[in-house]
Amino acid sequence: MKKVLVARGIFPEVVEALSQRFDVEHNADDRPWPVEELREHVAGVHGLMTTVMDKVDASVIGAGRELQVIANIAVGYNNVDVAAATKRGIRVTNTPGVLDDTTADLTWALLMAAARRIAEGDAYVRAGDWKVAFSMQAFLGADVHHATLGIIGMGRIGQAIARRAFGFDMTVLYNNRSRLSESEEKRCNATLVDRDELLARSDFVVVMAPYSPATHHLIGAAEIAKMKPTAILVNSARGGVVDDAALVEALKARRIAGAALDVFEDEPRLHPGYLALPNVVLTPHIASGSRATRMKMCETAIANLTAVLEGRTPPNLVNKELA
Ligand code: DGY
Repeated sequence: MKKVLVARGIFPEVVEALSQRFDVEHNADDRPWPVEELREHVAGVHGLMTTVMDKVDASVIGAGRELQVIANIAVGYNNVDVAAATKRGIRVTNTPGVLDDTTADLTWALLMAAARRIAEGDAYVRAGDWKVAFSMQAFLGADVHHATLGIIGMGRIGQAIARRAFGFDMTVLYNNRSRLSESEEKRCNATLVDRDELLARSDFVVVMAPYSPATHHLIGAAEIAKMKPTAILVNSARGGVVDDAALVEALKARRIAGAALDVFEDEPRLHPGYLALPNVVLTPHIASGSRATRMKMCETAIANLTAVLEGRTPPNLVNKELA
């Protein structure tokens, strides 16, 4: 029987499904293994299932002498050294498509929360500070309706975010490596502009680009300086795409009005500056976090892993040169 290692805590039914075909080891306590520990566990394993926070570097890949597949339970795969895996002929797979809407929903929740100061208001009420019924000038926020939304990274998730803007009568701008087809642009009601124009015109800037060396600090001090002082920045894509230190400084100085973030450069550690700031909404990397979607991600990862271990081409192969 082939051996499968699930590197993180996962739904029991997923372990059960895998156990029908494979000899499964499961990190049930949900404490992410540091690289040294992952290296020990991967010895003798044929299939490895990981989440975005499991660092599968060249040393882990080197330790997995029998490894045939790394099935990441995520659409992003910047936690895996794909080049090292490819060199060894190990298939890397991801879970695109199944989390677009759930991620777009959370992105909107963040945008709305920052615009209308939901977290601040909630903390104020819970603290018992609400003493005067209805204050004309309390907790004034930004209007979302009829505002301009700028999306940087217009893949499937970016497009799902854009479509949701329709009900708010927004102007939607986007910046992407390539232009959408005419029908996609129409469906999203979105106009392609260069990044500087997007930054200058948008009331809400949403980052939806995957992390890679090319997108490292895509939004830093220089980009933030181009935004309106009333603008709000939302990142539910990947930590590292936004320069956390630069953003903390900008929020402190009120160079932009606010931010809402689901991802950070060194998760789960935060830049300490964020914690003292009232004008940032923080969530713990939960954009794909509905049970139904997380199950679909697991099912997709199982299908990918099983295909490779049974000698078939997986549906979501990342290193296409191994197809
Ligand atoms: C992904 O899929 O890449 C998310 O960040 C985890 O849900």
